[in-house]
Amino acid sequence: MSVNRQNFTLLLAILGTLTVGSVTAQNFAAYTLNPVPIIVNLDATSPAIILQSPNFGIANYENLSNYTLTIRSGSVPLVLVFSFRHFNLEYEQSCLYDALYLREDAFCGTWAAGREFPYLFLPQREFTIRFKTDESVRRPGFQILVDPEPADNVYDDYNGDYPNYLFSN
Ligand SMILES: *[C@@H]1O[C@H](CO)[C@@H](O)[C@H](O)[C@H]1NC(C)=O
Ligand SMILES: *[C@@H]1O[C@H](CO)[C@@H](O)[C@H](O)[C@H]1NC(C)=O
Repeated sequence: MSVNRQNFTLLLAILGTLTVGSVTAQNFAAYTLNPVPIIVNLDATSPAIILQSPNFGIANYENLSNYTLTIRSGSVPLVLVFSFRHFNLEYEQSCLYDALYLREDAFCGTWAAGREFPYLFLPQREFTIRFKTDESVRRPGFQILVDPEPADNVYDDYNGDYPNYLFSN
């Protein structure tokens, strides 16, 4: 599915319950997506990481990319908080041309810039992020902070049930 403004307002209502630190990009390991698939292990004590599109901060991304980064969880449930510090991709209503996928959720255009998206991430699983572009229109791309938070506080707040805006797989 593609994430749009309507279902994002649901996320906003609940974000206040998460403690998201204000952190600066310089302090974290940065991963730039490239033709070689990247695998990163994260647990509740891991520092946040930075994800960047190819050429980010230097030039626009290229045509015909299809690159992945896979995050592997450890032994405790996490909430992965994706903070879109910069986000500028070619726009199409269903993100058919250029897109960043967080699992199956496609993001494109610029509306998500400056926003945060929390995803439930169960233990011993993989979370795949994919960036794909078509053969035309190149844009500056994205820089996203991914902060692994313990999921306990979210779980407690909802009396033993996870809030439904956090998708699990
Ligand atoms: C992109 O790569 C994924 C695997 O990472 C593959 O399943 C998919 O078919 C590829 N898409 C294109 C358009 O090449
Ligand atoms: C890639 O994109 C640029 C800018 O949109 C375009 O001018 C160029 O022809 C494209 N290159 C290829 C190989 O498709």
